[in-house]
Amino acid sequence: MSARIINGKAIASNLREQLTEDVKKLITDGIRPGLAVVLVGEDPASISYVSAKERDCEKVGIYSRDIRLSPEISQDKLLKLIEELNADPDIHGILVQLPLPEGLNEETVISAISPDKDVDGFHPVSIGRLVLNLDGFIPCTPHGVIKMLEAADVTIEGSDVVIVGRSRIVGAPLANLLFRKAPGGNATVTVCHTRTRDLAEKVRQADIVIAAAGRPGTVTADMVKEGAVVIDVGVNRVEDASRQRGYRLVGDVDFDSVKEVAGAISPVPGGVGPLTRAMLLWNTVISARNAGSKLA
Ligand code: GUN
Repeated sequence: MSARIINGKAIASNLREQLTEDVKKLITDGIRPGLAVVLVGEDPASISYVSAKERDCEKVGIYSRDIRLSPEISQDKLLKLIEELNADPDIHGILVQLPLPEGLNEETVISAISPDKDVDGFHPVSIGRLVLNLDGFIPCTPHGVIKMLEAADVTIEGSDVVIVGRSRIVGAPLANLLFRKAPGGNATVTVCHTRTRDLAEKVRQADIVIAAAGRPGTVTADMVKEGAVVIDVGVNRVEDASRQRGYRLVGDVDFDSVKEVAGAISPVPGGVGPLTRAMLLWNTVISARNAGSKLA
């Protein structure tokens, strides 16, 4: 039987509706949530991500400030700009699009963002709070995966989850979210990576498989238990001469074969991506609300 397809676009659209109401309420209280998006350089994928984030802000009524900088900008100048944004009362969230061009140190730049405005959830303070199971900004993609599972009525608590990929942006924080003692957590989590022995055998144990390796074809049908839920976080560009833009997007999961074995599966595009973007808006709204309660 073919798997249920989890519609990330529809889930994200519902979240945006709710956020639009939250933003209206905040504006009535005198606070318009504001997000600064900083893009250094001209990486085509980054330009399209950043433009999408700006469109999303507009949809829900968040003020967005688009800051595009030359790839030649010095680290000192970039740090100075972040300092200004940290102090700007109209800005509640600061996102510096990664990767940064060579010559700029991502650790230093991310650490310069005020933890109060770290809507990406990449600051060491945010990661520390997540690991300690304290309130704080949760990175958008892992948070989006949890929201997706919840919206699709997938039982997380007590489930065996296998994550393929241990990145700092997805695999590692997602593992923490899934095993922590909190709503959306309490799962038993295995994190697989490039040094894992017998990946297929590990993935076959999973009730929920999360593919976040950054490589097409990482998860194939023979690796998936009948009826398992498969969430594909991968976004890979593969050449496709039949498309006007010359490429198409594929995930890390071999969708066509896995959908015949899985119970539910998220597609690429239209799966986790829209939720990642929605969770950025979510974090910006939370940050604006926090700023408001500090003023009260
Ligand atoms: N590059 C790819 N994904 C992301 C993201 O979620 N945030 C930032 N800042 N850069 C990215």
